[in-house]
Amino acid sequence: MPAAVSLIVLAAGQGTRMNSDLPKVLHPLAGVPLVHHALQAGRMLEPERTVVVIGPDAPGVAAAVHAFDEDATVVVQADRLGTAHAVLQAAPALAGVTGPALVLYGDTPFVRTETLEAMLAALSRHAVVVLGFEAAEPGRYGRLVVEGDELTRIVEAKDAGAAERAITLCNSGVVACDTALLMDLCGQVGNSNAAGEYYLTDIPALARARGLSAGVVRCAEAETLGINTRAELSLAEAAFQARARAMALEDGVTLTAPETVFFALDTVIGRDAVIGPAVIFGPGVTIESGAEVKGFCHLEGCHISRGAVVGPFARLRPGAELAEDVHVGNFVEIKNSVLDQGVKVGHLTYLGDATVGEHTNIGAGTVTCNYDGVMKHRTVIGRNAFIGSDTMLVAPVKVGDGAMTASGSVVTMDVPPDALAVGRARQVNKAGFVARFMDKLRAVKAAKKGQ
Ligand code: UD1
Ligand code: CA
Repeated sequence: MPAAVSLIVLAAGQGTRMNSDLPKVLHPLAGVPLVHHALQAGRMLEPERTVVVIGPDAPGVAAAVHAFDEDATVVVQADRLGTAHAVLQAAPALAGVTGPALVLYGDTPFVRTETLEAMLAALSRHAVVVLGFEAAEPGRYGRLVVEGDELTRIVEAKDAGAAERAITLCNSGVVACDTALLMDLCGQVGNSNAAGEYYLTDIPALARARGLSAGVVRCAEAETLGINTRAELSLAEAAFQARARAMALEDGVTLTAPETVFFALDTVIGRDAVIGPAVIFGPGVTIESGAEVKGFCHLEGCHISRGAVVGPFARLRPGAELAEDVHVGNFVEIKNSVLDQGVKVGHLTYLGDATVGEHTNIGAGTVTCNYDGVMKHRTVIGRNAFIGSDTMLVAPVKVGDGAMTASGSVVTMDVPPDALAVGRARQVNKAGFVARFMDKLRAVKAAKKGQ
């Protein structure tokens, strides 16, 4: 079994070109913070340790990292002195750790796990492996100087002469190297260069000076797309969505209008599910085989089981769990609620902090009044119940199995099983009232005119 991998994710960049108060790696891409993408690519390698290097003025970044992986170590790079200096900030957290390390960038979301695996495999031939790509516009990228299978050195664009600038094989920034050797080499890096920074890109030449080998694994340029501006972020979003749509179709999901559907990084949809037009997936959605989501739905943090039908125009928020064959119709919002098998909630309804037993029918315009201005309360509805249209369920409240609420009821007390709850004013019909009333009003109007 190969030795466990350590991940080092560099995310201390200021992201100046985003022109934002929000740290760059927190800007959302595919519904999740940018930094989650690099962490996700690394996660598939089942890393032994993950260290994320962040900047000193980056509120929320540590929390976002821990939201993805609570075991990740977050270290702060107080002075931003360059990529080698950033890697060294991870050294204390990786002291005594054996096995290979992979350096990733927090702002480079699309590196594939397969590519990282190829880099780790290449460590059997080289002490340092750098991920390179043929750049359409080499511009500001570091240039890879190769001789045969050897990477002799990397030249940063700022330090490159005309001949080196003509090289189109560029540095993505991703590096694989034995953890202890990586730290050793980074400690040897100096800063006598155009930027006055400690360049991680110096380590191939330093390794070779020790008689070790450095090499390149190549990938497509699309994989190494880095986000520096909002324009690049929007292009990355488009690229992600195009791939996610193609993958969903290939996985056997029907998308009736693929270009209008937006996925999150972690969206999971089973085979033969049908997704209508203009459906938006926030993070944390799983949909089982054969479920249907009709058009214009907004889904986040929810689970939709086999045979369930949702929408059009439904909103499922975090904690919405729909069992098999549940029907959720138009203008229905569901939050933190579990709907058992066969529940029907067809129209104009809000269910929050509720549980609904199997085969219960929720009438149009039902609202769980779950919030008293300070606290949230639960509504518990049994099985085979019938909630009449326009019922206000003032939580905390329970409706028993087989019970019914009359339309327009405000239900403030628990309803026993099989009982009917009527919580509304009794209707009174006043015979002939309207005609007499209108005559009176007309007389008043005529008298005013005559004045
Ligand atoms: C770097 C590479 C360059 C490569 C390019 C690919 C170096 C010296 N150059 O250049 O060869 O072609 O990436 O995009 O490595 N960071 C820190 N702390 C620092 C400096 C950087 O955490 O002190 C992080 C940044 O947040 C970013 C990454 O390292 O995620 C790269 O830094 P950046 O300044 O963007 O490097 P480039 O100049 O683009
Ligand atoms: Ca960059």
